[in-house]
Amino acid sequence: MSKETESEIKRRRTFAIISHPDAGKTTLTEKLLLFGGAINSAGSVKGKANSKYAVSDWMGIEKERGISVTSSVLQFEYDGFCVNILDTPGHQDFSEDTYRTLMAADSAVMVIDASKGVEAQTIKLFKVCVMRHIPIFTFINKMDLEAKDPFDLMDEIENVLGIRTCPVNWPIGSGKRFKGVYDRNTKEVSMFRAVSVGGAKGAAETEYAVEDEKLKEEIGDELYEQLVEECELLDGAADEYDQERVDRGELSPVFFGSALTTFGVRTFLEHFLSYSKPPLPRESDAGVIDPMTEDFSGFIFKIQANMNKAHHDRIAFMRVASGRFDASKDVFHVQSGRKFKLSQPQQIMADDRKILTEAYAGDVIGVFDPGIFSIGDTLTVPGKKFAYEGIPTFAPEHFARMVPVDTMKRKQFMKGVTQLAQEGAIQIFKDYVLDLSEIIVGVVGVLQFDVLKYRLESEYGCEIRLEPLPYNYIRWVKDPTMDLTKLTRISDCKKVKDMRDNPLLLFANEWSIRLVLEHNEGLELTEFKKN
Ligand code: G4P
Repeated sequence: MSKETESEIKRRRTFAIISHPDAGKTTLTEKLLLFGGAINSAGSVKGKANSKYAVSDWMGIEKERGISVTSSVLQFEYDGFCVNILDTPGHQDFSEDTYRTLMAADSAVMVIDASKGVEAQTIKLFKVCVMRHIPIFTFINKMDLEAKDPFDLMDEIENVLGIRTCPVNWPIGSGKRFKGVYDRNTKEVSMFRAVSVGGAKGAAETEYAVEDEKLKEEIGDELYEQLVEECELLDGAADEYDQERVDRGELSPVFFGSALTTFGVRTFLEHFLSYSKPPLPRESDAGVIDPMTEDFSGFIFKIQANMNKAHHDRIAFMRVASGRFDASKDVFHVQSGRKFKLSQPQQIMADDRKILTEAYAGDVIGVFDPGIFSIGDTLTVPGKKFAYEGIPTFAPEHFARMVPVDTMKRKQFMKGVTQLAQEGAIQIFKDYVLDLSEIIVGVVGVLQFDVLKYRLESEYGCEIRLEPLPYNYIRWVKDPTMDLTKLTRISDCKKVKDMRDNPLLLFANEWSIRLVLEHNEGLELTEFKKN
């Protein structure tokens, strides 16, 4: 491998930011990009209003730009590192793509609102990170507002998410009494003082050694004593930093700060860069593939259809998994056995497109899909034939029966739903007994129902009616040969099959899952399906 390729790969860090809406993901991302000089002012990442658009507006944007506004990879340089932030769509456009994006990241940064603690969406995304055993870094945000007790926050992360925590710094007070953070390594305190910089909120940071008399004066005896006590407690009871446990995703380094005022963000970034790893090796059917090779390989983790009716083109998001990608050379698409050049590979940064001539392991690029890509497909250099482990199918949480309004249009209807399912926008199922006479759609986020209706109508000329079903939990039956008609106590769940005839069960709640499991010996259910 050339020295250049090696050093390019080594300096890459690719992570996804996960959070519950409103915890501060956009704000933190923006501050990181500001440090990297990738943007010049706050507010330029993506209009926050975008995430609050009504469906019709959202469609409008999609049509206009031809691609989801939330599908972007933000790249910036900092201190010799090349950082890729993978945006995980949130709010109402939360979808399977949010999960899939996590499959392309080497680590995750979890943003938590200090006044709210661990929230629902964080838990869901967190589970995917745990499944992948990737490192998880925690940024506890909004310390400038009244926050929960930091020990309670640690407990919550440990109990709800089941990961140990290791605070790298520790807050002194919160809200109006927020004085700053104490760095447990350097034993220095960064003082927080809110200031207004040209109308924008900021913070002045002054550093004090913990034993400095001036620090006592500034924060007062009470908070000082509290800090000393809490630090003793932490030194005695908290887990020590252990790089191997961090690498395995068992221990999360925790940082406190306030993204809005940019307080604690630089410390966070610098620690993150030194604690996180260059691109990770990945499993394939030919064993583990080392990213540090000259030979290019990558996999598709997301496909975005163009909403423009006139052009049925689709953009596939590819994570470069090894080596150097050279746009002038042929690639080999393992699943189809075809060799071709990727047309117009591009960096997709917010709503900017930049044509690329090369990329390295760790990068994520957008490529035009010649109509043959599926999620999870592998691309390699001609002559190398192996397939990366597939992207799992994630459990949809909302289900509806789909009925074409015009029964004469059944053919278009089937074509449309099949294509949309291939693209990964929806999951479709058949009734276990009625088979194709009853088609059920499952989605991760409810907005996808509207997108489905809209696209079937506009792209396939087929109007549909969606009849919501009262189920929120789906489980794959581990043994695909099992006869579900023999199961007992399943009156309040629904038996379905996927398009490959794998049996599944839809449940209304976790209680009914437990009931069915208790009454049916030998029945094993799984939440994710490895493809
Ligand atoms: P998200 O992407 O995770 O959904 O969150 P986002 O960054 O959009 O932040 C949600 C709201 O929280 C925003 O306020 C943002 O300004 C605010 N916020 C983020 N970080 C901090 C922080 O450290 N301290 C405080 N006090 N607020 C923070 P908004 O009112 O929804 O938007 P805006 O009108 O202020 O732009």
